[in-house]
Amino acid sequence: METAIEKRASWSGSVAFVLAAAASAIGLGNLWRFPYLAAQYGGGMFILIYLVLVATLGFTLMATEIAIGRMTHQSQLTAFSCLSKKWGIIGLAGMVISLLITPYYCIIGGWVLYYFKAYVQMAFTGVNIMGEAAASSGEVFTSFISAPFAPFGYGMIFIIACAAVITLGVKNGIEKSNLVMMPILFLMAIALSVYVVFLPGSGAGLKYYLVPNLDCFIAPDGSFSPALLGKTILGAMGQMFYSLSLAMGIMVTYGSYTNKSDSIEKCVRRIEIFDTLIALIAGLMIIPVVYIFAVKTGTDVREAMSAGPGLMFITLPKVFATLGAAGPWVGAGFFLLVIFAAATSAISLMEACVASVCDVMKINRKPATFFTMCLIMFLATFSAIGYGPWADVKLFGMQFLDFFDFFTNSALMPIVAAATCVFVGWVLGPKRIIEECEAEGQVMHVKGAYAFMVKYLAPAFMIVLLVSEVCRALGIGGWKI
Ligand code: PHE
Repeated sequence: METAIEKRASWSGSVAFVLAAAASAIGLGNLWRFPYLAAQYGGGMFILIYLVLVATLGFTLMATEIAIGRMTHQSQLTAFSCLSKKWGIIGLAGMVISLLITPYYCIIGGWVLYYFKAYVQMAFTGVNIMGEAAASSGEVFTSFISAPFAPFGYGMIFIIACAAVITLGVKNGIEKSNLVMMPILFLMAIALSVYVVFLPGSGAGLKYYLVPNLDCFIAPDGSFSPALLGKTILGAMGQMFYSLSLAMGIMVTYGSYTNKSDSIEKCVRRIEIFDTLIALIAGLMIIPVVYIFAVKTGTDVREAMSAGPGLMFITLPKVFATLGAAGPWVGAGFFLLVIFAAATSAISLMEACVASVCDVMKINRKPATFFTMCLIMFLATFSAIGYGPWADVKLFGMQFLDFFDFFTNSALMPIVAAATCVFVGWVLGPKRIIEECEAEGQVMHVKGAYAFMVKYLAPAFMIVLLVSEVCRALGIGGWKI
């Protein structure tokens, strides 16, 4: 029947679910954010703290979200109100987060698409579009993002491609596209990191990345600084949160497509392992080359690493330019990998919005995707032209894209995560989540620890993170990452 509402979709099994959730988690955050944070915060020390947080706090939040989705069979917008009318607002906030992140994430996806095209062109024609690459990659980047049409056009192509996968459905679209993109992503990441590790001179860079360096906790007067340790922990926490795609409804939505017979505990552990592995490999891929480049050009290593978003679009092209004939190929391979990572994350974000539209408006996937795509295109326009024709229009002193990023990552996400923990810990009760994790004879090994985390530690951590993020953004108390 044409007008009948489709049956709720489901994954074909737990492997498909783990792959999809890992595909969502592995994204731009793993590829550029993790390496530069690790490089800034004492290498191995940051990695150690990050691993502990993923295994404890990350586990708690992800298991909670997946269990809520599976228990209610709803996407985030309606899942929370199913459990409690009053706390339904968490779902609404989650929906707002994914609706605000998707557009700017797709615009960045468009930037990556442009870079990939430029490198393929360079590899085949030998003409260097990055200009005198080593010197002018910064200019190429600024002139691209401030052009009136190009960032918009590439962003739209990226949005349409993601929407096309989503209209095909959970099994035929999302699952199948992951089956193609994820193995290629893994293989390319391994190949590139092996290439980098064997480059002459990479040893010092590897040491810089992997050996725990306690200097970053030492204040200028030579004493140990608890504040610097706190900053590292908060940096790692923010990264964990973003990297695991938490607090924006994706895991609730993906959880609603899982079967009762799958072990949530095992799935979460596997997703975390995949996500962390790719982050670590990304560090192997990026840090040694930037290190070699910094030494060669006499740039300060820390400064070269701390370029933030510029690391991927400005510093790395400079590095590729020093690799001779292999440069354009390495660049093309790298940006293809980034496209896949960004596309699988953007698909999950868009799916979270589409699923909510389906659940709330009771319409089918195709019209819901079309409606959501138009809305995302409209919102993306602001981020696309925010650096170009609208460069003078600012929200709280920030460009549109930076504002959306700040508002979602630094403010809304910690609020939603804290509210979710308070709701589960104190209203719904951790027992309900534990029961869901133990459905159909599954065993949850960490029940006691989970209940303690969700009631006490997780909300406290989230509130500290929120305060620190807001202080950092407003420049209060010298916070700066
Ligand atoms: N987890 C993704 C990453 O590491 C980021 C992401 C953010 C994905 C928001 C989906 C939604 O890049």
